[in-house]
Amino acid sequence: MARYSQNSISEVSRRNNLVDVVSSYVKLKRNGNSYIGLCPFHKEKTPSFHVSEDKQLYHCFGCGAGGNLFDFVMKMENLDFVDALKFLAQRAGVVLEEEKGSYRPNQDENDLKQRIYEMNLAAAKHFVRNLADKNAETVQRYIKKRALNHDTITKLGLGYAKNEWNDLCNFLSEQGYTEQEMVAGGLAVKNEKGHIYDKFRNRLMFPIINVRGSVIAFGGRALGDDPAKYMNSPETPVFHKGSHVYNLNIAKQYGQKEGLILVEGYMDVASLFQHGIPNAVAGLGTAFTPDQAVLLRRYGSRVYVCYDSDAPGQNAAMKAVDILTAAGNQVKVVQFSGSKDPDEYILKKGSESFRDCLNQAVGSVEFKILKLRSECDLTSVDGKIAFVTGVSHILSELDSQIEREAYVKRIAAETDISLEAIMAEINKWIYSKGRKEAQKEIFSEKNLHFTSPAAERASQVQTNATYKAERMLLNIIFFQRKAFELAREELSSELFCGEDNRKIYEAMMAYKIENPEADASGFLSNIDSSLKEEAAAILYQEYECDSIQAAKDMIKKLKGELMHSKIIQLSKEGKIEEVNVLVQKYTERRG
Ligand code: CTP
Ligand code: MN
Repeated sequence: MARYSQNSISEVSRRNNLVDVVSSYVKLKRNGNSYIGLCPFHKEKTPSFHVSEDKQLYHCFGCGAGGNLFDFVMKMENLDFVDALKFLAQRAGVVLEEEKGSYRPNQDENDLKQRIYEMNLAAAKHFVRNLADKNAETVQRYIKKRALNHDTITKLGLGYAKNEWNDLCNFLSEQGYTEQEMVAGGLAVKNEKGHIYDKFRNRLMFPIINVRGSVIAFGGRALGDDPAKYMNSPETPVFHKGSHVYNLNIAKQYGQKEGLILVEGYMDVASLFQHGIPNAVAGLGTAFTPDQAVLLRRYGSRVYVCYDSDAPGQNAAMKAVDILTAAGNQVKVVQFSGSKDPDEYILKKGSESFRDCLNQAVGSVEFKILKLRSECDLTSVDGKIAFVTGVSHILSELDSQIEREAYVKRIAAETDISLEAIMAEINKWIYSKGRKEAQKEIFSEKNLHFTSPAAERASQVQTNATYKAERMLLNIIFFQRKAFELAREELSSELFCGEDNRKIYEAMMAYKIENPEADASGFLSNIDSSLKEEAAAILYQEYECDSIQAAKDMIKKLKGELMHSKIIQLSKEGKIEEVNVLVQKYTERRG
């Protein structure tokens, strides 16, 4: 596996502000030195997820999740470190250098992005010219078949990639673009012999344009019987599939007033557009992502999910609904029947009928119940049980008791199962969820299992206080140079009661000795993963006190506790003489 240079890794850290990165998944609000939002790693109603811009750390006071920029992306996108690094490098336009080679200044990368934007625009214009050519029969026939009119084609900038290997490459080369640039921009592909050829051939081309109006990529619909019906640009320095939707450049103007309509395909968007509905957007051939959900919240007052009516479409809709809701969107689900997708529906039934569907769109809970009902055979007892159990689970997630009761009444009437029984089932779900959360709390107290000698004597209350004091001490030692020096001289790790605290202390000292200018995020990159979240929780805190004095007091307290515990231990073992020596020392210390 590639090893990237420390330089590149630092550059990626420097160029990605954790607050911005988190903001693309979580709605954050400024609060003093922190940004606060709903934790993306556990379900909660009041925000306990904190992000520190200064420290470039996050910590959730609810579930204990915590870490630095890389940890966040690894967890959120389910990536390993190297892929998270690549993800963030791409996000910020940093070119990763492998361990040896020299580090390229990022100006090159910016230049490349700029070149790709320009090249994409040139390509889009070229495709448009190709389509306008009267001799381009295949595409003209296809357009007619799909009933796309001139206005739609022009306004969406649709084009044609010829059925040739080098049409675009030749044109771009005449315009002064290098092979390297064409490949980097995803417009050309290199074969084994090192020759390049057009990526898109014999396709109707949809330019993908971002909200700033730049052409960032293309989607191509095969005109022939190519096994790949659609082909999209690969990831490039200017295009990340998961963070864009098709047609937002146009739909955004209508989003606040009319909401946005989320459909599956380019053709759905084009067809709705042609029928006077310009506020539809489409995902880009991948499962809908939290990034896209955040984007829609930014530009739309609500989102109508309008996926294909077949089972895969409805299952995908279910997932999109949850992702959209989690990102804070107001969500409605549009249902239509008799057609497989919105394109087919509006062509058959017209725009009035489609608008009716929009008006009759249901909320997410209603949608989930409808979907479940269609999957259960309500004439059988088993089917009824499955339905009511499933509905109870859905309703247990609701915040409003009133809303819940309204649904329960309806379900009771429909299934002839008593209101009380359904309520009891819902409460069971709520209870089991509550229990799971309570269990999590217990686990997060794992630090309270003490193994050092000091543990012997510590009472519950005191250990808790000691444990907190230790964490505060660790924080101060990390951030205050003087406290660090004091600790180096005075604080041996055996003084720590909390086992994790002790390990963190050892890791911290080793790291800081090697890296005197260490920042919190760098330290977290280095620490054993089993300690990472605890360490993030510790470093996240801000203490307002005379920290050096506090550190001195705490070290003294820890020393006292250790001595005290030794005394107790020795007296239990009957080693009276040794006890006396220690007691002597102990009283001297105090006096
Ligand atoms: N898609 C893709 N690759 C494929 C098939 C689909 O990337 N091989 C993506 C495209 O973004 C496409 C969307 O999934 O627009 C919806 O796919 P599908 O429902 O199959 O396409 P339709 O919109 O029905 O396409 P058409 O009407 O042109 O057949
Ligand atoms: Mn279709």
